[in-house]
Amino acid sequence: MKTESVCVPGKLSSVFIIFGATGDLTRRKLMSAFYNLVSDSLLPDNFVIIAIGRRDKTTEQYRQEMLSAITKYSRNPVDPKIWNKLSQMITYYQFDFKDLDGYTELAKHIQTIEKKSCTGGNRVFYLAVAPLYFETIVKGIKKGGLSDTCSGFCRCVIEKPFGKDLQTATQLNNSILQVFPEKNIYRIDHYLGKDMIQNIMVLRFSNAVFESIWDNKHIDNIQISLTEELGVGSRANYYEQSGAMRDMFQNHILQILSLVAMEPPANLQMESIRNEKQKVLQSMEEISPDFLQNNVVFGQYDEGEIKGNKVPAYRDEENVNPASRTETFVALKMHINNFRWAGVPFYIRTGKRMGTTSGEIIVQFKDLPHTLYYKENRVQQPNLLILHIQPKVGVFFQFNTKDFTPHNDIVPAKMDTSSFIPDQGNTPEAYERLIYDILRGDASLFSRWDEVESAWSIADRIIAYREHIKAHFPNYKAGSMGPERATELIEKDGRHWIKI
Ligand code: BG6
Repeated sequence: MKTESVCVPGKLSSVFIIFGATGDLTRRKLMSAFYNLVSDSLLPDNFVIIAIGRRDKTTEQYRQEMLSAITKYSRNPVDPKIWNKLSQMITYYQFDFKDLDGYTELAKHIQTIEKKSCTGGNRVFYLAVAPLYFETIVKGIKKGGLSDTCSGFCRCVIEKPFGKDLQTATQLNNSILQVFPEKNIYRIDHYLGKDMIQNIMVLRFSNAVFESIWDNKHIDNIQISLTEELGVGSRANYYEQSGAMRDMFQNHILQILSLVAMEPPANLQMESIRNEKQKVLQSMEEISPDFLQNNVVFGQYDEGEIKGNKVPAYRDEENVNPASRTETFVALKMHINNFRWAGVPFYIRTGKRMGTTSGEIIVQFKDLPHTLYYKENRVQQPNLLILHIQPKVGVFFQFNTKDFTPHNDIVPAKMDTSSFIPDQGNTPEAYERLIYDILRGDASLFSRWDEVESAWSIADRIIAYREHIKAHFPNYKAGSMGPERATELIEKDGRHWIKI
């Protein structure tokens, strides 16, 4: 008697459909991430990647291209056995995703694959395309019935930027919601895939010494600084419409800020975490005309030198308007108006073509109410906790101690767990974590709509101000630490940007 083999899909088994499979993101990040997930045995056997591209090529050609990409970008050297396993999962499908009629055929193709591959009817739609196509693809998915026919999970992954202001983000969100419910939408913010960003909650909520003094009674100020030596490069078409506010502040910086300032969640469930993050954004101080005038500094880089090499001004970069008013730098002072944080300034700065490439969260604690160990000409150093996001990754803590001389001098001791990990960018590693979480259905490291909405409400008002004022650009030299007014912003409060 003939027995039929029973198909048992793994929990993470699925068909993973990539729109934009011949693009940069897929080549540089996604494929290497898949490779390392296979290498770490984190992908199930029953897993199929449908790579969608416009160009005419065979699956075998596409696989060879991906092999070259993985060889170049993967953190692990290519092992033929692992590659062989991954390559068998990849199939190329030629299709112009702008052709809404073609989605019915795509649906049939997916169903045929599902019949053969034991993926449990689970589907992930990954939109690795330019933002202008997000809505088109989602419409096509609906038109072709691709989401209605998922018999398992059905998730949609959207890269940033999610809209260019509150209005366009709301419109995009409404279009996606017609096809996917909120719980199935994964909005990527690659900063949340970085180790130290995930470590913020661990440090705070598993160390009594930090969490018990994490408030306005003990903290003097918090600084979040994300600086880059890189300029706009070849991305001016995007960046001219974006600037530092939309590119870094609305997403990465506000996400970091909410993790630093949130209340402890009831548990580690994704909704509990996201609820607490959202409350921080709701408690941000009002963006009044007074706030805008006194607490915000915009900048745009002029020509200068980075590591001894001359670099052009932003306005002289390829595809940049020679009279561009786009900001490549922003510094802000903000308050969070709640019981924990009232009165504590959060100083934020981010910019391109600056003197260093570095990501840091700096917590400066208050001085003690009275100084016993005071010596002429010597000021006691404050306690500092620094979370090094990149390129150093780790925790730095500074406290005072006696030195080993008869003079009884007080010296700062500097404990540093950091190691130098040069590549902590939107690396395949960050994507490994994010893809794995998408498959597991854990959206904690993705932005929920109300977070995005609150973030745009804050950013929009600041961006409108930038569009309204006539800032004198360029106003900082490439290779410097930004405009002088950014230094004044903090120095007028008797503080300074801390650099260890
Ligand atoms: C991206 C921005 O989101 O983040 C880029 O679009 C920026 O302009 C990049 O360079 C910085 O990321 P990372 O991971 O290199 O700090």
